[in-house]
Parts: sequence; C-alpha cells; structure tokens
Amino acid sequence: MNNVCVIGLGYVGLPLALSFAMKGYKVYGVDSNPELISELQRGETHHLESYKGRTIQEILKDHLQNGNFIPMLDYKEAMQACDDIIVTVPIPVYGGKPYYEYLISCAKEIKNNLRKNQLIVLRSTVVPGTTRNVFLPILEESGLKCGKDFYLAYASERIAEGRAFEEFENMPTALAGFCEVSTKRAVDLIKVICKEEVVVASSVEVVETAKVLENLQRDINIAMVNEFERFTKAMNLDIFEVIKVANTHKRVNLLYPGPGVGGFCIPNAFYYLNAKAEEMGVELKLSKTARLFNQGIPAYISDLVIKTIEKYGAKKKVAVLGIAMKDYSSDDRLSPALEIIEILRQRGVEVKAFDPAVKKEYDFKVKSFTEALEDVEVVLILARQHGIEFDKIFEYIPPSRAIVIDTRDVFTQQDAKEKGFILEKI
Ligand SMILES: NC(=O)c1ccc[n+]([C@@H]2O[C@H](COP(=O)([O-])OP(=O)(O)OC[C@H]3O[C@@H](n4cnc5c(N)ncnc54)[C@H](O)[C@@H]3O)[C@@H](O)[C@H]2O)c1
Repeated sequence: MNNVCVIGLGYVGLPLALSFAMKGYKVYGVDSNPELISELQRGETHHLESYKGRTIQEILKDHLQNGNFIPMLDYKEAMQACDDIIVTVPIPVYGGKPYYEYLISCAKEIKNNLRKNQLIVLRSTVVPGTTRNVFLPILEESGLKCGKDFYLAYASERIAEGRAFEEFENMPTALAGFCEVSTKRAVDLIKVICKEEVVVASSVEVVETAKVLENLQRDINIAMVNEFERFTKAMNLDIFEVIKVANTHKRVNLLYPGPGVGGFCIPNAFYYLNAKAEEMGVELKLSKTARLFNQGIPAYISDLVIKTIEKYGAKKKVAVLGIAMKDYSSDDRLSPALEIIEILRQRGVEVKAFDPAVKKEYDFKVKSFTEALEDVEVVLILARQHGIEFDKIFEYIPPSRAIVIDTRDVFTQQDAKEKGFILEKI
C-alpha cells in the first residue's frame, strides 16, 4: 500500500489528504492543533467542500472508517510510515510582515524525524526564496543532504476554497525540485491526484514567484474594478452589468467588486512579494497602491451604510447577511465583513449578523435569518451563502420600509422597482 504524510490539515491540507485517501493511499495527516485533530478523529469538519455528490464530512467519515486517513499530532509516527511528505502549513502576515514561525517549527519537526530517501514537497504559499533559504537549511541540519540523502520540491497550491477536490484534480500543478530525482518523484506523487498537466519549471523560485504573482493579479484586478465602481456610480450605471458586458470580450477577464478582499491568499500576496522586493531594493508601487486601496474598501462600505441611514432617516440598526470572506465559504479569516461591522459599531450602529456557514462565534452574530431581520430597516449584504434566502427579506421587512445595501449583486434596480424597496448597490 502507498503511504503519504500531509502536514497541516486546514483548508488546503484536509481536502488534499482526503484526495489521496480516495485514490487508495493511506494518509497520515499531521496537525499541531490538538482541538482540530480531535474534531477530525471524530469525523467533524466545518469545511464546505464536496466531491461527486458527497460532502467532505461524508468523505472524511468514509476514510476514517476504512483506515485510509489517520489524523494525528505526532510527526514521528507519520514520518516513520511515509516516504512522501507534503507540507501545507501557512505563513501569515502580521503588521505587513510575513511570520515564518509555523513553517520553521514544521521544518524543525521534519528535520528531527527525517530519514534517507524521503521526499518533502512544500505546497504552502511562500515569500519567494523561502524553500531554498529558510526551509532547506533547517532540513539539512539533520546531517542529511538534499539530492543525495533526501529529496525536496516546491509545488504551488492553486485551489479555491469550496472547489478544492475538483481543482486538485483539474488544475495544472506547477512544480520544481532541487534535483532531477526530487522533480521526478514530486511529479509522480502529484500525478496521483492531478489529471491535468504537471508544469515543471526551471527552478523552485520560478514556481514560488509565479504563485504569488497569480494572487497579486487578482488583488490588482479587484482594486481596479472597485475604483471603477465609483466612476460607474457617478454615471448612474450598475458596475456589475458594465463588467458582464466587458467580459464578453474574449480577452477580458475582469473580476467583480465587493466589500473588500479577504481570506488568506490574496491580501497576503503583496506583503510576500514586498518582503523580498525590499531586500533587493525594488519598489512595487502599483501593487502597493492596489493593496492599500483594497484595504480601504471596508471603510468606504461603512461610509455608504452610514450615509444611507442618514439619507433615509432609518433606524441605526443593520442586519448583515454573510460574514465569510467570499461567497459560499465558511472562512472568515481576514474577512472584510468583520472590519465593516467593527467600524459600524464604533460609529454607533447596532449590528446583528447572520452567516450559517461561519463556525466562529461573535457577540454580533445571531443564529437565524429571522433574528437578524427583527426590528431593522437596513439590510447589508456582504456574502452569498446557501441558507440565506435573500428574497425572504421582504417577508420580515415590508418592502416599503426595506433599505438593502447590496455588495454582491443579489438584486437589480429593476427588482427594487418591482418589489418597492430601496436598493443601494456598490
Ligand atoms: N485556503 C486556500 O484557499 C489556499 C489556496 C492556495 C494556497 N493556500 C496556501 O496553503 C497554505 C495553507 O493554507 P490553509 O488555508 O490550508 O491554512 P489553514 O490555516 O486552514 O491550515 C493550516 C494548518 O496548519 C496547521 N499548522 C500550523 N503550524 C503547524 C506545524 N508547525 N505543524 C503542523 N501543523 C501546523 C494549523 O494548525 C492549521 O490547521 C498557506 O500557505 C496558504 O497560503 C491556501
């Protein structure tokens, strides 16, 4: 039987581990969070993934039962059982600076348990240069040499949360190894789950840099359309309609504006690149402007809410629908919704928020749609979710009293006219 060890069992690592389990691999899943390991051992996860009609919860239970997935805290047991190890632990950004401690402590654990002939594939998104300059030297402190005693490759991770299983399979994977054997073994391993092309680059740094650039282009694209929203608003045009029309051009791919840019990937991209750029004396002016612009969107949306309340003399109470960092996600890490809610509350607005997918508790979060809409006139839509039926807003607030501020293109002005509610869109 083939064994593989996946280290870090979060939004990437868990579905990745289960993808190998579905291919008949025995997967040793390691995570340093004891609470998460206990949840997984009980067959629990709040992730919203599915594959061929089965939810990630069902897939997890299947593979716990048949023994193909073993979640654990212990690197030693996992690394003794596996020749192939994939790492998906994060590098968060704190105060604009990448924080390497999770990756460093993971590298140290691997070093302590490293054996001859093992292959390590790093799949975390990293500051360009990290695999060679941070990760590899720690592994070699074991006394074993890369390319002779053990093998190391970097393969970028491109999945979008909510489509993880499908994208592991159908998205080309880019990778590079530190030697021919590293590359060949990494390609063979990735091909177990990836039906698409495995793109082999000339160096690890090419793959690391391409990955961050992929995320940066989304940050800049979103900044551009959010800026342009101010132009279309002044022209009394719907930005979403303008973009839909522009995107019928076959070489145009504009993203849509929203309440800001959240999650783990896109907001970190500029800071990963900037860390390296500063070291080399390169200025990333445009990228920085885009990042700062996107960081300012929650304040802009909060202003829009306050101005709307004042304009219509509405109660200073808002029902927020959707707090995840994007539509149909359970992830609220760096979610702009949290910042908008904080600003609104600081400015004296009472907020009740409903999001059936987000697990984390907040004092402003309520358990039902009905509770959120109780005694409010203003509804702020920040994310779509299964379990939020936007049309039902008007069963709780009479349309003649409802003011909807829509950042997700749920309603059109035509809907507002027909139903008789006030609609403010970005
Ligand atoms: N979430 C995405 O959609 C996505 C997409 C592409 C790439 N990525 C990248 O993949 C990586 C993982 O992202 P994620 O969203 O899965 O993060 P996550 O926070 O959901 O999961 C990371 C897991 O690693 C664990 N961990 C941290 N330090 C550890 C250690 N030393 N040893 C063992 N486990 C440790 C944490 O407990 C956590 O469960 C990041 O580099 C991210 O940038 C994420």
